[in-house]
Amino acid sequence: MEKFDNVVIFNHPLINHKIAHLRDKNTSMKEFRELIEEITTLMTFECLREVPTVEIEVETPLEKCTQRVVKDNSVVIVPILRAGLGMVNGIHVLFPTARVGHIGMYRDEETFEPCEYYCKLPDGIEDKVVVVVDPMLATGGSACDAISLLKKRGCKDIKFMAVIGAPEGVEKVAKAHPDVTVFVSTLDRGLNENCYILPGLGDAGDRLFGTK
Ligand code: PRP
Ligand code: URA
Repeated sequence: MEKFDNVVIFNHPLINHKIAHLRDKNTSMKEFRELIEEITTLMTFECLREVPTVEIEVETPLEKCTQRVVKDNSVVIVPILRAGLGMVNGIHVLFPTARVGHIGMYRDEETFEPCEYYCKLPDGIEDKVVVVVDPMLATGGSACDAISLLKKRGCKDIKFMAVIGAPEGVEKVAKAHPDVTVFVSTLDRGLNENCYILPGLGDAGDRLFGTK
C-alpha cells in the first residue's frame, strides 16, 4: 500500500497478541467484546495524544505544583452502528465524561455501498475532538460517509479508529479525508468477493452481539 502521512498502523506486539485471539472463530462473544475494548483502550493512548489539556494546581504532601490534566468535555466518541458500539467503553475507560454521538450505517448486501439510517450527535460537537470508531475498515465507504456527515455538521478535528483495516479502505479514507488521521491496529491482506476483510475476523457486529 502507498504510504500516507495521515495513517497510523500500530503493528504493536501487545495489540497483535489480542488480535490473534480476536480473529479465532472459537473465541466467545464475551471474550470478543472484551478484546475489542482492550485493543481500543491501547489505541486511544496514541489516538488522543494531543487531546486538549488545562493547567491545575495540586498540593502534594510536600509542596504545591502545577500539573496538566485533560480538559473536561473535549472529546466526543462517534461509533458507527452497530459494531462501533463495541469500541465505546474502551475509550470511556480513559475519558469517562466523553459524550457519544451515534451514526447508523449498514452496507447494502449487493452494492456494498453504505446506507445511513440513524444520526444523533451531541450539541457543540463542532468544537470537540471527534473520534469515529468502527472495528472494521473494509471498502472504506462507511467511514468516508460518516466523516463527511460530521464535516457537514461543522466538525473540524476528526480522528478515525479501526481495529482491522484492508488496504483498499485505508487508502480510500486517507485520500478522501487528508485532514483526518486514520488509526488502524493492523493492516490485512485485502477483501474477498463479498468485501469481507481477509484474513479478518468475520462479521464484527454479529460476533459482538451474537446475532449469527
Ligand atoms: C460493517 C462494519 C463497518 C462496515 C465496514 O458494518 O462494522 O461499519 O461494515 O465496511 P466498509 O468499509 O466496506 O463500509 P455492517 O454494514 O456489517 O453493519 P453492522 O455493524 O450493523 O453489522
Ligand atoms: N464488516 C465486517 O464486520 N467484517 C468485514 O470483514 C467487512 C465488513
